[in-house]
Amino acid sequence: MKIIVTENKIQGGAKAFEIFENEIKNGAKVLGLATGSTPETLYQNFTNSDLNCSNLISINLDEYVGLTPDNPQSYHYFMRKHLFDKKPFKKSYVPDGMTKDVAATCKEYDQIIKDNPIDVQLLGIGRNGHIAFNEPGTPFDIGTHEVKLTENTIKANSRFFDNEDEVPKSAICMGNANIMQAKKVVLMAFGEKKAQAIKEMIEGPVTEQVPASILQKHPDVTIIVDKAAAQEL
Ligand code: GLP
Repeated sequence: MKIIVTENKIQGGAKAFEIFENEIKNGAKVLGLATGSTPETLYQNFTNSDLNCSNLISINLDEYVGLTPDNPQSYHYFMRKHLFDKKPFKKSYVPDGMTKDVAATCKEYDQIIKDNPIDVQLLGIGRNGHIAFNEPGTPFDIGTHEVKLTENTIKANSRFFDNEDEVPKSAICMGNANIMQAKKVVLMAFGEKKAQAIKEMIEGPVTEQVPASILQKHPDVTIIVDKAAAQEL
């Protein structure tokens, strides 16, 4: 794992953009994208740049079950607002949270990823070490699946909703196995609330109790953290 420590999330976003821009200039065509507050500074760099994304494909990690794409809390909405409205891609995939057949949607999503192998996968990390919505205890070999969110995650994500009851109870998300198949992984984390998860991911044992620890086994991972998130290392 390559670890880059920056002063703050502004510098972290600029550093992450440098990596993405370089990969795209070197032929990357499929980007795995993430939501959450962490990638916002990276997306700002994308939208402020003159980088042409119209030949790229994006595949997002996850979506809440039960939220329509026009719901401001949905990840469809988030991606349009922070990136796609200003920087359209050739094709952008986000799981369909309104599907009537979750199992079929998950299977289709696995097929999309198989047909469009991910060149660079962007990740954030949950305070409990989750990646995408792969919560502690999720098998390492799982593909796209429906996840029941833990209390911990519902609480953490409730800051985006009017109250905790409005946070959906499940999500459709790429599995750890999909993430591990990406050719390159860039994980970003900012702030002291992520420090413990960062320590466990990098220095702890590889265990399904800390989903991000699987990244120790990936051949090309860059971790971009600010000083606060790196303080336990
Ligand atoms: C959610 C997302 C994750 C994200 C995590 C951290 O649970 N599904 O992909 O990494 O939140 O979010 P934030 O970046 O807002 O701290």
